[in-house]
Amino acid sequence: MLKANIAVLVSGGGTNLQALIDAEKNGIIKSGTISLVVSNKEGAYALERAKNAGINTKTVLKSELGSQEAFEEALINALEEVNTDIIVLAGFMSILSANFTNHFKDKIINVHPSLIPSFCGKGFYGLRVHEAALAYGVKVSGATVHFVNEIPDGGKIIMQKAVDVLEGDTPEILQKRIMQEAEWKILPLSCEKVCSEILKEKK
Ligand code: GAR
Repeated sequence: MLKANIAVLVSGGGTNLQALIDAEKNGIIKSGTISLVVSNKEGAYALERAKNAGINTKTVLKSELGSQEAFEEALINALEEVNTDIIVLAGFMSILSANFTNHFKDKIINVHPSLIPSFCGKGFYGLRVHEAALAYGVKVSGATVHFVNEIPDGGKIIMQKAVDVLEGDTPEILQKRIMQEAEWKILPLSCEKVCSEILKEKK
């Protein structure tokens, strides 16, 4: 069966990548196959997860390439080499320019650990998002999967899932609950949705 080629961009622990790998194994993702994992951080644990699953990996470092432009050009080359149909940002902590996002228009999705438009945009990533949510005192947070355009966290929303904030939550506890109850579910489901739409276009 024809499948969409998925490339996953990572920077850290890669629990969302693991959720995608597991979802492909158990058939939640059936319209696509993960063919490449690219990290912008050397030694990211996500790379181990990819290797354990037999997926090709690549590390692209901005510090070695010297500029954002050269970094994005190297990324584009790596992604095009394997005929990438869809790019999933799974804990990828680098903002991509309009040049990159326009190159892959409607083909990049991202998971963000809040209910956009709350606690998103420049400076809101990882634990900082949960620190801000707790400081504000919201009673509900969650996760959002959205298309990526040139505005950080500004592209069209694909799926969202709300998660309760509980008395005594720390940023770490809230992060874990949002990952378990929202991110690891809606990221694979959104990925399958976009892959199946891409396949329909290809036919
Ligand atoms: C996840 O919570 C993800 O939503 C967040 O970083 C974490 C990465 O964890 N991404 C952002 O904040 C992007 N703005 P992981 O490496 O274990 O998937």
